[in-house]
Order: sequence, then structure tokens, then C-alpha cells
Amino acid sequence: MNALDELKRHTRVVADTGSFELMRRFQPIDATTNPSLILKAVESSQYRPLVRQVLQQSRGESLDVQLLRLVVRFGLEILAIIPGRVSTEVDAAQSFNTEATIAQADDILQLYSRHGISPSRVLIKIAATWEGIRAAEVLERRGIACNLTLLFSMPQAMACADAGVTLISPFVGRITDWHKARGVSWDRVEDDPGVQSVRAIYSCFAERGYGTEVMGASFRSVEQVLALAGCDLLTVSPELLEGLMNQELQQPLTPALPSRDLNTLTKTPSEAPCFDEPSFRLQVNEDAMACEKLAEGIRVFKRDGDRLRALFGELA
Ligand code: E4P
Repeated sequence: MNALDELKRHTRVVADTGSFELMRRFQPIDATTNPSLILKAVESSQYRPLVRQVLQQSRGESLDVQLLRLVVRFGLEILAIIPGRVSTEVDAAQSFNTEATIAQADDILQLYSRHGISPSRVLIKIAATWEGIRAAEVLERRGIACNLTLLFSMPQAMACADAGVTLISPFVGRITDWHKARGVSWDRVEDDPGVQSVRAIYSCFAERGYGTEVMGASFRSVEQVLALAGCDLLTVSPELLEGLMNQELQQPLTPALPSRDLNTLTKTPSEAPCFDEPSFRLQVNEDAMACEKLAEGIRVFKRDGDRLRALFGELA
């Protein structure tokens, strides 16, 4: 028995890639993309014809609209392969603008609907800033499901649950990277601060009965993935999915976390939220890692969005 099949018995496995060709191999239910993954795919010659096609169809439109059309086109290709939901990310440049995030989510869903895709198959991916969480709260009230990303801390997770967000993506590997860069080391995967962070968030949600789905993201190793078996969902890169597939297990996988039935999860906005804006900002500010990684994550996703726009300019 291989580790991927075993993992799928306990957790919904999601493919974390812009390369939809790779998806057929791993048969995930859902898929996630982000601006860096789309850029990586677009930079390979394999997807050049698709980019040119999008450019041709959106000639004369603004670079922002062309960018949205491209990310939605990737989403459409992915949805033709998977049975579940695709996460499509709002432009990171809007991470501190609630109104613009809501407007862009509407644009994304409108583009999908032109191709017959219902909103139930799309998760609008938004950075878990105060402004992003407020945008998600409004969207969720309108029945639009959101995936709050760049999530590195408990206060971000709790604020999302309070806002009635469908799904959060707490990151593992970027937390690991932060600690390793500061010379911290550990021997056992259980002591990895990235793994510990997601375990703590998941346990808190399970204990409190929060219906917001928890999807561990940003993995650096197969060990980290397996250490979170049982989590509602895990989004994993093709390289690590391959590693899981190639790992033979001698005995069935014992999940580290008690599984929850996704069908029974119903998110409910809290009437007594844990945070108002000042207390949220103060709490996140207490955590140097979360502050730095959130800021860096937005910077890098924005930079990669800008690179995609520049690429359009070159190909036009
Ligand atoms: C998925 O939702 C995340 O964007 C992704 O897992 C981030 O992974 P990285 O830290 O390897 O970039």
C-alpha cells in the first residue's frame, strides 16, 4: 500500500499546482493555485499556446482583466479534470482593500459562469489580512465560498472562523523556513513549528466545533504531509504527491489528527467574534513570524502577478 492511497482514506487530498497536466496522474478531488504557481506554469513553453489564446481573446482589455482571464482559464482547465473545487486567487495587490477584493471575486465568478461553472465549484482565495477576512465575510453571506490563505497564526484562523469562512489554508513550510533561517532545528517532525501550528489550529477548530474547513498547505516534505494525516484537507505539490505515491507503507497509516466528516461541517459566523480590528492587528503583531511571512507572502504574490502582466506585454 502506498502512502498517497493511505492518506486519501483519512484526508481530502488537494493538488497544489498550476500545471493541470500533472493532475490527471494523482486524481485529486480539489485543486489550488496561486500567482506564483500560475507564473511557473506560464513560463514553461507547454502553456504558451494557452497564454497566447487568452491574450488574443482579451485584446484591448486592461492588463488587470487579462490577468483575471488567465487565472480563470487555468481554473477552467483544472475543473475539466477534477470533480471538486478549484481555488482561484484574487490579485494580491488588493490584499488591504475589502471593496476591491469583493469586486474582483465577483468578476472571477462572472468569468467562470460564462463557461457554465457554478460558484459551488470555485473557492475565492484571499489573503488572511483584516481587510481580506472582512471581504470574505461579505462574500460568504452572499453564498460565495472563500479560501483564506497566507495564514500563519491562530488569531488569523480564529478571525476567519468567526467570519464564517468556508476554508482556511494554514501554511506549514513557510513557518518551517522562518525558524530554520534563524538556526532553529529539531529531529522529530512533531516538533516542526509548521506542523505544530496546523495541528493546534485543527485541534482548536475540532474542539470548538468550528465548521470552517482546515486545509494544511505549503509543504516541504512527505513527512510533514503525513504528520497532518486526518486534517480536513491537505494541498500538496506534484513533487510531494509523487513522493507519497512512491512510499510503500508496511502498515496502515494511523492519522495524527482525528478526521471530521466534511459533509457535516457547517460554518457559522460568530455572534461574539474573538477580535475587533485593533485587537486582531495587535495579536498578529505579537507574532514576528506571522507578521513577516504574511507581509512577504503578499509581496511575492503581488510581484508574481506583476511579472505575469509584464509577460503579457512581451507576448502582445
Ligand atoms: C496553497 O494554497 C499555497 O499557496 C501553497 O501551498 C504555498 O506553498 P509554498 O509555501 O511552497 O509556496
